[in-house]
Amino acid sequence: MSFIQKLKQNKQRPLFVLAPMADVTDVAFRTVIAEAQSPDIFWTEFVSADGLIRATEIGKYKLKKDLLFDKELQRPIIVQLFSSTYQYMYEATKLCIELGFDGVDVNMGCPDKSIEKQKCGAAMIKNPELAIDVIKACRDARRDFCLGGDNADFSVSVKTRVGYNAVELDTWIPILLEQELDLITIHARTRKEMSKVEADWSHVKTVVKMRDEWAEKNPGKVVPLIFGNGDVLDISDAYEKCKNSNADGAMIGRAMFGNPWLFKDIENLNASEKFIPSREDRIKALIRQVEVFDKELGDVKSFAVMKKFFKTYMTGFDDAKEIREKIMSMESAGEVIGFLKN
Ligand SMILES: Cc1cc2nc3c(=O)[nH]c(=O)nc-3n(C[C@H](O)[C@H](O)[C@H](O)COP(=O)(O)O)c2cc1C
Repeated sequence: MSFIQKLKQNKQRPLFVLAPMADVTDVAFRTVIAEAQSPDIFWTEFVSADGLIRATEIGKYKLKKDLLFDKELQRPIIVQLFSSTYQYMYEATKLCIELGFDGVDVNMGCPDKSIEKQKCGAAMIKNPELAIDVIKACRDARRDFCLGGDNADFSVSVKTRVGYNAVELDTWIPILLEQELDLITIHARTRKEMSKVEADWSHVKTVVKMRDEWAEKNPGKVVPLIFGNGDVLDISDAYEKCKNSNADGAMIGRAMFGNPWLFKDIENLNASEKFIPSREDRIKALIRQVEVFDKELGDVKSFAVMKKFFKTYMTGFDDAKEIREKIMSMESAGEVIGFLKN
């Protein structure tokens, strides 16, 4: 049984997890989140399996930075990969098992043209045979390289949308259910909708129902958990959305911007008061994130990646705008840290 299934059994409530977000949920942001309050599960940003296996040494060095995580604090953690080639997915999953990840998730929802050109991301919805193939690659790698083989704790999951141009749950979900996944996360929009319309969690409810009916007809098979994703505002909203859709969990993305403390509210699900960070909390968190960014990623990522966080942290207190404007004009981590510490 995978760690996800065990976690769900232990918690007896919906699971609240961190969404994969490219250039956002990197090791630096995850450090700040973990030090505030960890989610039930972390996700990495998506990483190209082909790149991890085929790139030049420098290319591999850069990509492996996306696989960095604190082995004590940032746990459990699932790595998200994309590929349309069995062999690369198999080898990249092996690498991630060796690096100590708790599971692998296949991206089947990304609408980015450069990803779809590689027949990856949301393009997988249009090409189920490829989707089946890369999921099999992950499962085969688990069987071959995990202690315990098919029964290892290591999870294999998919994050997808409700369809490509239109809702296609009736055809797409039965295909995924047959793959004996541990988890399917449903981003409650089609590919065509991108993020422009409101996420429709009634689709999550439909998928949970399909899963339950499928499980009844298929005793003995691995039954995936179903997580919903899209437009969750905070923990109480996530809880409500899970209650209404019967989802096993909620995956939270953009609500994390400037709020690494979001998962603190898991501890007081029944309390009406939300945790509100102080000015000092915000400044300290930003300092910490800039420090880790500089140490771990400074040699491969542009400082602009870090700068987009400044606005999200420096808000909600009197001199926030003043501080923000000041640090936006700075070009190095040292300068920003020095200024904030003073
Ligand atoms: C900046 C950014 C980067 C993202 N990168 C990824 C990614 O690497 N993999 C993925 O599956 N989804 C990615 N997403 C989509 C989110 O995981 C999530 O599905 C989407 O934002 C909807 O959830 P939310 O409303 O809670 O943000 C990204 C979204 C944003 C805003």
